[in-house]
Amino acid sequence: MSKHQADGKKVTTRRLIAMKQAGERIAMLTAYDYTMAKLVDASGIDMILVGDSAANVMAGHSTTLPITLDQMIYHGASVVRGVKRAMVVVDMPFGSYQTSPIEAVQSAVRIMKETGADAVKLEGGSAVYEAIRLIVQAGIPVVGHLGLTPQSVHQFGGYNLQAKEDAAAHKLLEEAETLERLGCCALVLEKIPAVLGKQVADRLEIPVIGIGAGVDVDGQVLVLQDMLGLDEGFSPKFLRRFALLGEAVTSAIGEYVDAVKDSTFPNQNEWY
Ligand code: KIV
Repeated sequence: MSKHQADGKKVTTRRLIAMKQAGERIAMLTAYDYTMAKLVDASGIDMILVGDSAANVMAGHSTTLPITLDQMIYHGASVVRGVKRAMVVVDMPFGSYQTSPIEAVQSAVRIMKETGADAVKLEGGSAVYEAIRLIVQAGIPVVGHLGLTPQSVHQFGGYNLQAKEDAAAHKLLEEAETLERLGCCALVLEKIPAVLGKQVADRLEIPVIGIGAGVDVDGQVLVLQDMLGLDEGFSPKFLRRFALLGEAVTSAIGEYVDAVKDSTFPNQNEWY
């Protein structure tokens, strides 16, 4: 449980704005299943992202591209069943909004109807303005995502720091302002220089949530499995491990294997 006492009141888009205005930082983590979502929610988190990073951490893919809309809906609905307080945002997967703005609204409507989530998130700037406009018009809260947008990894040629040059930084600032004008309720900024993260957060009224975007933004998001230390193979500079659960899990399972092989499990208190 966080030392920052979370009240039991549901986190809404209005509340996010109020938090930004009050200078209260927003804590966000990913989750993909009921059991972990329940634990994350009980810890006092403000926002839970059902990220398409599920493709990586749940399914073992090397990019987020393969995950489907049906699979995101399955993860989203599982998370929503475990959450009482946090605002739940479901990622729109690759291919569910890029082909046409109409398809984007249809995909967003399916996510909202079939998961019970509070908002959707999609990646990109000018290429998705029309999609965002129509989704917002349908009454669906949208979280934008700029900077390193992993669904475009092949175009970027890797997971590199984005918007390093002045021209790219300027473009990102402009796109962030347009996303706010189009009605986005929050914006995720991934892997950009910290000074640019601060500039965007200062410029916008909606909350700006960073992952590798420095400390002067309105909140932070990390992938749950990464910050819990469940995958030792992944260590970008922005990642802080708040636990080493990978070791704890392997060691607990090792003890179980030994107990089964030694016939010390089950004992007489554990059988009928
Ligand atoms: O899919 C995801 O987990 C994300 C975060 C990294 C922001 O989009």
